Amino acid sequence: MDKSGKILTLGIESSCDETSASVVANGREVLSNIISSQIEIHKAFGGVVPEIASRKHVEVITDVIDSAVKEAGVSLHDIDRIGVTFGPGLIGALLVGVSAAKTMASVLSIPLVPVHHIEGHICANFIEHPELEPPFVCLVASGGHSHIVDCRDYGDFVIMGRTRDDAAGEAFDKISRALGLGYPGGPVIDRLAKSGDPEAIRFPEVHFSDSLDFSFSGVKTAVLNYINSEKAKGRDINKADVCASFQKAVVDILVENLMKANDITGYGKICIAGGVAANSCLRAAACDAADKAGAKFFRPSPVLCTDNGAMTACAAHYAAPVRSAGPDLNAYSNVSIENINGFFDKTHDD
Ligand code: KG4
Ligand code: ZN
Repeated sequence: MDKSGKILTLGIESSCDETSASVVANGREVLSNIISSQIEIHKAFGGVVPEIASRKHVEVITDVIDSAVKEAGVSLHDIDRIGVTFGPGLIGALLVGVSAAKTMASVLSIPLVPVHHIEGHICANFIEHPELEPPFVCLVASGGHSHIVDCRDYGDFVIMGRTRDDAAGEAFDKISRALGLGYPGGPVIDRLAKSGDPEAIRFPEVHFSDSLDFSFSGVKTAVLNYINSEKAKGRDINKADVCASFQKAVVDILVENLMKANDITGYGKICIAGGVAANSCLRAAACDAADKAGAKFFRPSPVLCTDNGAMTACAAHYAAPVRSAGPDLNAYSNVSIENINGFFDKTHDD
């Protein structure tokens, strides 16, 4: 607790290629959010190399946590609880954060709160919107996930739709690689698309009439085929047009399903989250669609869309009354966000 009596949560996130730690007061006030990104290292390989990611997390995690506590202007003994991402993600990367969190919670004798990575992304919306409370629907689109989530309450999530193949961010990354634009693809495609024509090339959009699921492998293959056939004909590719047209196809379907979920639930409150939520076209399109539907629209700042410890701390703050783990906490590469509190009840009973 700090001097003014605010509850302090230290959040630790290491599920992919960012090592991050953050101190958050009373769930929504970010006192520090240190993010050490490995992007420059993985760029050379065109994507995240899991073994390198784990090693890099080990190298920097102590300093990252130390900096987060210092920047928050608090002492380690003021921290009330530790939240840590336990899954899903790269197993070796997750284990680094989980091990650090378990050790600290044990030495400081404070509760350890396991946080689901998608739950963390969703909770990033609480940080800058003090008025936001569940229930709402949230689109979570990142490098590993594309979900439409019914957020019924804090820690109570039901998946309404999910990708049947590639995640949205994964499609951005693959198209970027094919265009020779490097890793990660989202930010560079977002930038280049601004000078392109989204109507220049019509790429297929997959709509499932009876579900809110996504499929991005069709649009990805269509773009790759387009690039290859233009190259074979010896024509120059207008990369800006390809980026804008591809981006439009992905954003259209993301927003369409999000709005359908709003209609089904009748909440009138929609959020976006995850790395792809930093996309300027998605942010604008979701905002427009919400306006038209008379719904309230929330989104995190771009820095809180991609992986960060503040979202983990925020999620842990709200989960703490009903969820905790001991030194036996494990990391899981694949775990569902549904019934997450029950998952830990069960683990404790075993
Ligand atoms: O949430 P995140 O940091 O990590 C995962 O949980 O996967 O998301 C990273 C993903 C990458 O695929 C990246 O290309 C994408 O988010 N991304 C974007 C943008 N910024 C990051 N996609 C589209 N537009 C962006 N501006
Ligand atoms: Zn993420």
